[in-house]
Amino acid sequence: MTFEQLSGSEDPHRIYEQVRALGPLVREGGDWVTTSHTLSNKILRDRRFGMRFTDGTYPGFAGLLPQSFLELDPPDHTRLRRLAMPAFSPKKIDEYRTRVEKVAESLLDAGEFDLIKDFAAPLPIAVISDLLGVPDADTAEFAGYGALVATSFDTGVTPEMTHANDKILELFERLIAERRTRPGDDVISSLVAAEAEQKLTAQELMGTLVLLLVAGFETTVNLIGNGAQALLGHPAQWALFKANPELAPDVVEETLRWAPPVQLTGRIAQEQVDEIGTDEMVHIIIGAANRDPEVYPEPHRFDVMRVQKPEHLAFSSGIHYCLGATLARMEGEVAFRALARRMPDLRPAGPVRFRDSVTIRGLASFPVSRS
Ligand code: HEM
Repeated sequence: MTFEQLSGSEDPHRIYEQVRALGPLVREGGDWVTTSHTLSNKILRDRRFGMRFTDGTYPGFAGLLPQSFLELDPPDHTRLRRLAMPAFSPKKIDEYRTRVEKVAESLLDAGEFDLIKDFAAPLPIAVISDLLGVPDADTAEFAGYGALVATSFDTGVTPEMTHANDKILELFERLIAERRTRPGDDVISSLVAAEAEQKLTAQELMGTLVLLLVAGFETTVNLIGNGAQALLGHPAQWALFKANPELAPDVVEETLRWAPPVQLTGRIAQEQVDEIGTDEMVHIIIGAANRDPEVYPEPHRFDVMRVQKPEHLAFSSGIHYCLGATLARMEGEVAFRALARRMPDLRPAGPVRFRDSVTIRGLASFPVSRS
């Protein structure tokens, strides 16, 4: 793919626009690529497309993570997603907001400040660990290993990542065993109970927990980081937001549209669909679809006041629509409000460093000064 020329630090939109100029659906090697919002949305919602080849195999981009429902088609996808859903309902997430606000406030008490390392990363890690039921004592270890395993999506698997993967599985095995004897009010306990009722296998239980852990913190960190960078890079928008903190949900949506943490996904045709043959892959460039001039006027402009219609594809669409979207949105709102209130004079204080990843786009380091 043309995208192999890209690195995490490069602005991908130059290449996205080159592909867009070739048309809404472009042949690349044996695959297809789309940059069109309308077509991406259509394919993501079309049941003639799935995650797997028709022989049941999965394309090689799974990295190290154990199989989860993100990689499955119905009916297994439906069954497993339903078991995880109650923990992420809008009502549950709303009840959880005050706790997230407390975590955000406590992180901002620190002196030296790297916006990623000291705020954007630890907030979602604390939140998802708490929801899952990972004890504080294990959180740092989980986070370190999780981040390493997640990069295997892009970079291929190193021995270090295999070790990290083994460690995560070991830690979860221990927590699962503990919850079997002493259940609590957390996601591990409720899934362990479902396993006892044979609603999912031990392997599916592990796959779900690892998915929730990694999906929970490898993406939200970049919503917060990309949003903070966008605001500080657009002083008028930052000023507007500080004067109107009720715009927090709009800042979240415009960040998700303009700088989506997950830039790419893909679907495989399960049968011939127009010119797309059975078992052919369509790469869906979320980052490009979110700046499609056919649906968003002046798409490259970061504008928190823009009308978000149709919805961006940062959380995908159709049956795999992000299960954690309500949680991620709430975390983003809390984070941006806390920054605006506690650090109104925030400004960049050194060069940023991008993550070494094209699929998950965001910053590894963002030094800022509070005054
Ligand atoms: C800003 C933050 C986030 C972004 C941008 C994001 C993005 C995405 C995207 C694009 C997908 C679908 C991929 C596809 O269709 O191929 C997805 C699925 C998923 N996300 Fe998120 N996510 C975020 C936060 C979270 C959080 C906080 C959780 C909570 C645990 C979470 C859990 C999941 C799960 C479980 C799936 C699989 C859904 C399914 O296959 O049915 N995500 N996410």
